[in-house]
Amino acid sequence: MAGLSQWADLPIRRATRPGSLHTISMTDEQTTDSFGLTRRQALAAAAALCGLGAVVGASSAQAAPRAGALRVRLSAYPALSKVGGVAVVGNLGSIPVAVVRTGRTRCRAFNRRCPHAGATVIPQGSGFLCPAHGSVFTKTGARVSGPTPTGLIPLKTKLSRGLLTITV
Ligand code: FES
Repeated sequence: MAGLSQWADLPIRRATRPGSLHTISMTDEQTTDSFGLTRRQALAAAAALCGLGAVVGASSAQAAPRAGALRVRLSAYPALSKVGGVAVVGNLGSIPVAVVRTGRTRCRAFNRRCPHAGATVIPQGSGFLCPAHGSVFTKTGARVSGPTPTGLIPLKTKLSRGLLTITV
C-alpha cells in the first residue's frame, strides 16, 4: 500500500465556488470527510477494503468456480457420455453454451449466439441450426452455409475428472 501512503501527503484541492480551486492546508488529523473520518482513517479503510476484496477473490477461486466460469458435470448430460454427443448446458453469464464431446478426455464448448445477428442456434441433425436466417454449423462449430460470416465462437474448456470448466 505504498501507493496510498503517497496520497496521504498530497494537498486537497476543493472548489469553493464555480471556477475556483483553493488548496487547503491540512494535516491528517485536522481534516475530516463527511463521515467524520480523517484522511488517514479514510485511506486505511480504503486499503482494508481492497485487501478484503483480494481475500474474498482468492477464497472463492479455491472453493468455487471463479467468476465467469461455467462448470458442467458431464454425467448430468447423457448425450455427452459418448464421443460426438452434443448438449445445451446453460449459460455462462449471458452467453448460451453448447458442449460437444470430441474425445474420451476432450470436449469443446461454443457460444450459441449466431455470429450473423445474434440469434441462439439450436442443435439439429449433425450440427447446429440458426432459426433466424438458416445458417448451419457443424457440431464442432464450423460454418456450413447461410449468411453467418464465421463459425460459432469457441469457449475455453478444461476437463478434469468429469467436470468441465468453461470460460470465455
Ligand atoms: S442470426 Fe443466425 S443466420 Fe442470421
